[in-house]
Order: sequence, then structure tokens, then C-alpha cells
Amino acid sequence: MSEPRQILVTSALPYANGSIHLGHMLEYIQTDMWVRFQKLRGNQCIYVCADDAHGSAIMLRAEKEGISPEQLIANVQAEHSGDFAEFLVDFDNFHSTHSDENRELSSMIYTRLRDAGHIANRSVTQYFDPEKGMFLADRFIKGTCPKCAADDQYGDNCEKCGATYAPTELKNPKSAISGATPVLKDSQHFFFKLPDFQAMLQQWTRSGTLQDAVANKLAEWLDSGLQEWDISRDAPYFGFEIPGEPGKYFYVWLDAPIGYMASFKNLCARRPELDFDAFWKEDSTAELYHFIGKDIVNFHALFWPAMLEGSGFRKPTAINVHGYLTVNGAKMSKSRGTFIKARTYLDHLAPEYLRYYYAAKLGRGVDDLDLNLEDFVQKVNSDLVGKVVNIASRCAGFIHKGNDGVLVGGDAAPELTEAFLAAAPSIAEAYEARDFARAMREIMGLADRANAWIADKAPWSLAKQEGKQDEVQAICAQGVNLFRQLVIFLKPVLPLLAADAEAFLNVAPLTWNDHQSRLENHQLNAFKPLMSRIEPAKVEAMIAASKEDLLAAQGNTAPVGNGELGKDPLSAEIEFDTFAAVDLRVALIVKAEAVAGADKLLQLTLDIGDERRNVFSGIKSAYPDPSKLEGRLTMMVANLKPRKMRFGISEGMVMAAGPGGEEIYLLSPDSGAKPGQRIK
Ligand code: 2FM
Ligand code: ZN
Repeated sequence: MSEPRQILVTSALPYANGSIHLGHMLEYIQTDMWVRFQKLRGNQCIYVCADDAHGSAIMLRAEKEGISPEQLIANVQAEHSGDFAEFLVDFDNFHSTHSDENRELSSMIYTRLRDAGHIANRSVTQYFDPEKGMFLADRFIKGTCPKCAADDQYGDNCEKCGATYAPTELKNPKSAISGATPVLKDSQHFFFKLPDFQAMLQQWTRSGTLQDAVANKLAEWLDSGLQEWDISRDAPYFGFEIPGEPGKYFYVWLDAPIGYMASFKNLCARRPELDFDAFWKEDSTAELYHFIGKDIVNFHALFWPAMLEGSGFRKPTAINVHGYLTVNGAKMSKSRGTFIKARTYLDHLAPEYLRYYYAAKLGRGVDDLDLNLEDFVQKVNSDLVGKVVNIASRCAGFIHKGNDGVLVGGDAAPELTEAFLAAAPSIAEAYEARDFARAMREIMGLADRANAWIADKAPWSLAKQEGKQDEVQAICAQGVNLFRQLVIFLKPVLPLLAADAEAFLNVAPLTWNDHQSRLENHQLNAFKPLMSRIEPAKVEAMIAASKEDLLAAQGNTAPVGNGELGKDPLSAEIEFDTFAAVDLRVALIVKAEAVAGADKLLQLTLDIGDERRNVFSGIKSAYPDPSKLEGRLTMMVANLKPRKMRFGISEGMVMAAGPGGEEIYLLSPDSGAKPGQRIK
């Protein structure tokens, strides 16, 4: 056995001013699967991340919400951590760039770069918002395009004609923050002298650290000559003040990658076996990998290695770049409901479905990955439920019924055992190379062979015949052993399924090398269904909820039409027929109770005269004691298309007013109204 490797892995740090969506999840799931594979192999692999907490966008968002930036980033960190945990992304540490460790390391790196002569300074003229008293980044300036005269275009490019220009070329510029006309103002800026590292970067980017497509793209920049990089911003700015330069702050992208080191440093304080220097010193033998999307390659493959080199630290072993996520063949779209937040997905579907689908489609290149929702349902159901789990569920019953759950010894299919063993190195190689798609193809190929063999042996027919009991047990024991090997191979992708399978198999947590052994004369635990099929209705409900997320963000709570958003759906006129088509009824609340596992929902049983309806309603915060609603009359939309939710089917909607939270008021008719009466 070779020595375990020491590996440090990162994913890009998400900005602390927005929710995680399925596009982000592609990267975190990809990284997590790779890290889990390394751990399963017995390597020391540490996975760190953090929220990227600095910059004007975060400062302005906090201001808008009337909270401090610290409060905003604490709120967002709690949300992000929850989303990642539920998607089974198992960071060793999830820290923040607004931390003591990051402040110290950023100062240290800057000071070393400065003392080595890699920092320049000079005056820069920039637009300044006189009302707000701040310099404006290009995206905070709007005006008329100098090329095509389109209004309301950003300071650096026109969305209408595609032109790029300097903000000073924009006609009639306005501050997007205050609306004031910006003025030009000079200020001293600090620059990192990237050209000092040209030769090192030429060599480093071609030394196996990057995928070919990425190295080729970088070569274009390198060949056209590198520019000095502006690393300072003027107050007001949410970030770290530059040592010795009052009123000047590090640009967010200076301290963001240092956040990788800071998160690791913070972890070292809790884990004495980890030595910060061993991982970061110039001649470290530990491996360092950054997983990122293709939009931030210049920061990671040019600026970052140069900063590390210039300050006496080691450089990354490799930068692993992935493409973008599309949904149903197109860019994620809020109005189509395909801009899906991690939370919205989790409200409707199990995390491992998506982990598997991403794995099945992720190669080692930088191509975009399409989440085709029909294919998603089909593939997960056919591969995971139909092939993998099916093997265990086909065999377990016979072992429990015919042999008290004891798996017999002996190898009923040596050729299959041999094939599974022989496939392992190639599957491992595919994981190592991040070719998850190939790993999944090979694993499903094995699952197909196992199923075909069991189908051929047909233990279910033999079980009905006299004297065939031993044969049935031998076949099923073999089936369970093959299933166990598949579980090991899939464990980096499906950690929950693996844990449930370990419980059924009655074994300690499986490691990669366990695929070489088999279970013989071994007591199994009861078999519980390991995974259920994806119901397409749940995917539809997720899309509908994503459209609702958008409306909620716009301040409305009701879904409109079929996803076509009017400017203000609440005031758009409708035809009388549309109104008449709504079946509004008086409803008696027969039962009202909280829903286990849902923060906001109450489950209502409503009597509408001739029938009873089950309705889930997001009014729990206003009615913490739901029993008080029982016996009360309200009004409901009775002909709303039933909607499948995680907890059951909702068969209508009750009517309430108010802004939300505790302020929700259920509408009631005057006394005398009877359940089932139509509201006219
Ligand atoms: O592009 C982004 O979302 C950045 N917040 C990524 C930062 S990665 C690292 F360098 F910190
Ligand atoms: Zn234009």
C-alpha cells in the first residue's frame, strides 16, 4: 500500500448576499464527490470553503435591509450551511472571509508582496456618486449606450447591441444607487504587479495544472501581455483596510482566495493533527486543488498563483474547472421556473437524485451540463431504483424468509465476482480523473450484469419448487454481495443510500478496499426500501414553487397565469369569465394541525358541504395553536388544480389577507353562511 496522500480541496466561495441555486450545487456536489472518494480510499483529504463576505454589493444589500453587513453575512451563512448540509456536501470547515484568520493572512500576503516590490500605486480617475459619497463600480452606473443609444445600460457594456466601452463614454450617466449624476474624481489606487510573474505563469499554466481548454484560453491572455491588477477600493467599502493606508480597502477578489487558507487555518485550530505550514509552505508535498467555474479562471490561474509565489507560499497542484449548468437546454430562467434554489429543490426532492444525475453527466471537461428534467426523472428511476436498489430488494426477502436473514457462504457466480473486482481500478481511475460520467457508466454496466444474472436464475421461480432452497439462498447471497460492491463504488455519490445499505447489511462503514471481500455466513438486518422513484409531479411542483419564489421576491405571493409575468399581477385586469371560472366556497375547518417537518405549513381538513378537502396552507406563523381554527368558517378556492407537495396533495387554497409572517388573517364569511355555499 502506498502512503496516504495529504490533499486540501476547495470549492469557490459563494457570495454572502444571495441564495444557493442548482447551478452553484453542481460545483459543490462535484467537489464533495471527489473528496468523499479520496476519503473512502484512505487518503487524508480536507475540504474547506467559506462565504465570500466582502464588497460593495454586500454593503449595499445590508443597507437596503436595514441591518449591518455582519448581521447580513451571519444570516446568509446560516442559510448556506443548511443548504449544503442537506445536499450532503460535507465540508471539513465552512468559514467566512470576514474573519480574523483572513484579516491576518491578507495583511501578511499584501505586506510581503509590497516589501518584495510587487505593489505599485498611482492615481485613478473614476466616477463618484456625490450624493452617496462613494466611487461607483461600472455596474453601479447606468446611462445611454454611446453606440446604439439604448437607454438604461450598464457602465461597461450594452445589453442591446453588445458594445463594450468605458463608463466615461456612456451618455447621460446616472448612479444606479442614488440616481445622482456622477462626477469624475481622482483617487490613489494600489496595484499588484502581475507582469512580474509572466514567466512563472507561462510555465505554471502549462505544467499539468489546468485542463487543456483552460490552458489554451489563458495562453491568449498571457501572450497579449499581463496588466497590473487594481487591488484597492476607497471607503466606504465592506472589507479589510489595507495596512498602513487608511481609508483604502482590499478589493474583495484580493482577500477571497486567501479565504481558502483562512478557512483551513481556522480548522487547524480545532484539529491538532493538521499543520497549516505543512499544507501551505513553499515546498509542501501536500496536494492543493481548487474546484471552480469557468467564469473565474483568471482569478485562480493568474492572480492567485502569482500572489502565492510572490509571498512565499506554495501554488495549487491543479485548478479543476467545470462548465455552467443549463436547465432543459437553456440558461436558468426565473420566469420559466428553472432558476431553482437549493432550498426549493430540497422542499420537493431528495438530494441524492440530483447528486446522481450530476455524476452521471459530469465529465472532466469544461462543457456545460444540462439538467433535463424529464431525463432526470427517467435516469434516476431507471438506474438507481430500477437497477441498483432492485438487486437488494429482489434478494433480501428470500434470505429473511428462507434463512432467517442469514446470508450463506459460497460464490454462486465466480465470473461476476471476477468482473466486479476487475472493474474496480478503472472506476477508481475515473473518479480520480473527475470523470464521474464514466464511473457511473461502468457501475451501471455492472448493475445490468448482476440483474441479468439474477433474472436468469429466477430465484422467485425456484423458491416455489421443492428442494431448491439452497440454490435460492446461494443466488440471493450472491445478489446481496454484488449489491454491496455496487454500494461501495457509489458511496462517494450516494452517501445516504450507502449508510442505509450498511444498516441493512449490518456492517461497519464501508471503505473502498472492502469491495475485495465478501459477506459469508452473515446475519442481515431487516430490509427497508432504500430509495423511492421520483414522481414527475414533484418536479412540476418544484418548478411551480420556483416561479412563486420569484413572485415572493417581487413582493407578491400569488402565482400568476401560466408563468407569464405581468408587471403587477395584482392589478392586471381580468375578464369576467376568468373570475367566474373560480369556484369560491364557504368551508368549515374541521381539523387544523401542524405538519411535521414543515416550518410554515398547517394541514387543514375542510368541509365544503358535499365533500372534504385536504389543504396545506402556509399560515402556521399566524396560528401557532392551530386547534383554535377548528370549527371556524373560511373561504376557499375549490377548483384549484390539486398540487402534490412533499407532505401530500393539497386540494385547494384558503383565502387570507396580510403581509405574511404573523400577520396573516384568514377570511371568514358573516354568520349564517353554510359550508359548501358558493361565493358570488
Ligand atoms: O464568483 C464568485 O461567486 C466568487 N464569490 C468566488 C470566490 S472564489 C475564491 F476565490 F474565493
Ligand atoms: Zn448599445
